[in-house]
Amino acid sequence: MDKIKSLTGMLDLYDDGDKTNLPAKLFYLEKKIRDIFLSYKLNEIRTPILEDTNLFIRSVGGASDIVNKEIYSFNDRNDKGIALRPEGTASVIRAIIEKKLDQTNHKLWYMGPMWRYERPQKGRYRQFNQAGVEILGIPEGLPEFEMISIVCSIVNEFKLQNCTIKINHLGTQKNKESFCNALVKFLEPFKESLDEKDRQRLKKNPLRVLDTKNNETQNILKDAPSIKEFIDSSAIDLLNSIQNNFSDICNIEIDYSLVRGLDYYSGFVFEAVSSELGAQDSFLGGGRYDQLCAKLGGKDLPSIGMAIGLERFAELIELKDNSVKVVSFLCVTGNLEPKAYKIAHQLRSLNKDIILDVHLSDTSLKAKLRKANKNNSDYAIIIGDEELKNNKAVIKPLKNELEEQLTVSIDDLYSFFKSI
Ligand code: HAM
Repeated sequence: MDKIKSLTGMLDLYDDGDKTNLPAKLFYLEKKIRDIFLSYKLNEIRTPILEDTNLFIRSVGGASDIVNKEIYSFNDRNDKGIALRPEGTASVIRAIIEKKLDQTNHKLWYMGPMWRYERPQKGRYRQFNQAGVEILGIPEGLPEFEMISIVCSIVNEFKLQNCTIKINHLGTQKNKESFCNALVKFLEPFKESLDEKDRQRLKKNPLRVLDTKNNETQNILKDAPSIKEFIDSSAIDLLNSIQNNFSDICNIEIDYSLVRGLDYYSGFVFEAVSSELGAQDSFLGGGRYDQLCAKLGGKDLPSIGMAIGLERFAELIELKDNSVKVVSFLCVTGNLEPKAYKIAHQLRSLNKDIILDVHLSDTSLKAKLRKANKNNSDYAIIIGDEELKNNKAVIKPLKNELEEQLTVSIDDLYSFFKSI
């Protein structure tokens, strides 16, 4: 019988024995990033992973790569078009409109899997995880600073080297359209020199030509009009102010050619890139999307947000030595002894800072100790038939060679465990 395998570009994340350490890094990242979000008084929002396909066509954009060729969509049993979410922003706004909360301010965060039918490569998966922030209801100004502050806090918390936060301003929707027209006018005479991908972009979503990886197109673009000529001086002032105020905290660069792949942006946009990541070098992106809420049938709700690609981010971090102590509990009695297990339960309630790994399998003491060492345990607590009969336990230090193995009473075991 054919073996059933996982789908292309979809990873199983399981900590045990994964040489890349990706699962452990992701779990660690999720916890740390959540703590940073909470320290900014952001509230969590969880939306379903399935949505009406039209939500993404109307928000991310029918001409975007995501909707054009990357969306996982299918008809359900009722013949309704539904999609696995490719990103979180559209769902958040849909939820806020549906709950009639689109008249007030919100500071929100979310974390979870997203799906895009992309050609898998390093740092690009078909199922990946994002951690996102959306600040809703406040026009351009302070939210831009708060957003970059969150990005800097995250970059600095993990001491990322070789990374740059690129910022740009796409102006108003009108500025963006004028720039787009000027770009099309400039590129038209070069149409035949563009590769098929850029020619398609020129036709469907001209701003995306600025994202080209093709050297020849990049050369042509050197003389192209810049968004800088189309935006107000207040927009340029905002970029300068953000760069000046944060440059001693993070590496911030104004990049007038930065455009984002989703249609809903206007105004301030940003992306964080790392030279350590290869072709898929952007590990975080976001920007302002003041028109999205109204476009989805809600009120005018000026908003800004960002999302971190957790798998890409995980590639940039080293796991710190875990300072939490681990103790292995090895019960080597002939029969299953609930009394011994009860001691383990009691120990856990005495010191919640210790990880107590009760070895459940019925193997020899030698095998259990081998596993305890592999688990990076600091101590093994061993209870055999003899210890159980005499109400005692053995404490075996596994890391500190100068410490001696001790046989102690259960009461002393409790005191020892409390004091670790
Ligand atoms: P995005 O730039 O499409 O923005 O995605 C954000 C991040 O998700 C990227 O920088 C990248 O790290 C990661 N990512 C995207 N696609 C993949 C993939 N196939 N495999 C692995 N990682 C990937 C958004 O999604 C917007 N919703 C961000 C936002 C929130 N804008 C406003 N609010």
